[in-house]
Amino acid sequence: MHAEPRTRLPSAARGPLGLAACATMALAGCTADMNGLEKSSQVLPSPEARGSTLELQGGQGQQTREDNPFGGARFHVDATYTQRVTSTASGYPALAPQIKKASVQPTAVWIDAIARVGRVSETLAAAAAEETSHGGPRVVSVFVLYDLPNRDCAARSSSGELSVDDGGEARYRAEFIDPIAAAIAARPSQRVVALVEPDSLANLATNAQIPRCAAAGGAYRRGTAYAISKLSSLPNVTVYLDAAHAGWLGWAPNRTKIVDIYKDVLDQAGGADKIRGFFTNVSNYNVLHGDDGRRLEPSTPCPDELTYVAQLRESLAAVGIVGEGFVVDTSRNGRAGIRSSWGHWCNVAGAGLGERPRAAPEPGIDAYFWVKPPGESDGTSDSSSTRFDPECGSKDAAQGAPAAGQWFPAYFADLVRNANPPF
Ligand code: GLC
Repeated sequence: MHAEPRTRLPSAARGPLGLAACATMALAGCTADMNGLEKSSQVLPSPEARGSTLELQGGQGQQTREDNPFGGARFHVDATYTQRVTSTASGYPALAPQIKKASVQPTAVWIDAIARVGRVSETLAAAAAEETSHGGPRVVSVFVLYDLPNRDCAARSSSGELSVDDGGEARYRAEFIDPIAAAIAARPSQRVVALVEPDSLANLATNAQIPRCAAAGGAYRRGTAYAISKLSSLPNVTVYLDAAHAGWLGWAPNRTKIVDIYKDVLDQAGGADKIRGFFTNVSNYNVLHGDDGRRLEPSTPCPDELTYVAQLRESLAAVGIVGEGFVVDTSRNGRAGIRSSWGHWCNVAGAGLGERPRAAPEPGIDAYFWVKPPGESDGTSDSSSTRFDPECGSKDAAQGAPAAGQWFPAYFADLVRNANPPF
């Protein structure tokens, strides 16, 4: 997972509707795109307008699409994350009080390999214990599902274990999605959020010229549709799909492409009402409010992440997908002005923890949530590694970084130091 931005960057390889074309060729579509903000006054049905109810029926885990699953809930705190953070504290005594507070923040649990499917049952057992010990509101557990064949098709740091050439599509269903669904089905009173496959459909929208992405198109679409239909059949699961972020899909031509892909995938899955909505900014650094995006790419109609959510909502409405709830990853987006290029996604130096996870922080936003566990690396900075991606050697990337997903204590300490809001 690296929040692939390649086609947004000035590059000869970019497709005709990518940002380079927008910025340099003044296509008619791009001009309309830049005017997009003026058009954003249209009123669209929000999740609230659909009659969101925050209470669960009968005290069970059941959710309907009208329910914000984060509402009225306590968020599960992952013991693995807490333990990693706690182990970091001794190296940074001056930061100890802040690190302590950061250690008890909720984060998503990434199921990024077949061998990690057991984390679902473990997490739900822990969440059930939290419910019992607090005796308070329900606990919601948030999982990221991340194991499509040809995963991370446009970059190198997070490629996965399955391949389309090697029966990966069938294995994804039988050995990944099915057992995850079974583990959740065994805990029908637990409230679960499933964030399905970061980066995948966005890569189909903008990186189709890359052979590993082109080869994965059908498998990504069918695999995602299968995950949605299987998980949404469980009454205690709420599903969200990935919507990349402002600096990737913010431009109107890219939004047009992605909503057509969503329409196709949701049709295959049985309809748009199978999902609650979309998640954005996962593992990225876009600020919620401000002009940082425009500094990075003057042509952007989406200078910040919440503007992107509003614009995407309009693009979705154009294909009949309305009333979506959004989850925005705020784990590392506390600081603007840290990048020299919007395309830099790997362990960006100077980043800070962002808004603490919470439900319904803005109209139409179901939650700010720490989807990327802060402190986990985006990719190794060791250029001799087979998983080295040049982005992780860029001048904006922190050095000394371990492989994607591994704990990076010095980077975590910097995130805490730069937290905004501060701890
Ligand atoms: C990266 C890694 C993945 C990890 C995730 C969260 O995408 O590839 O293994 O779980 O980040 O840190």
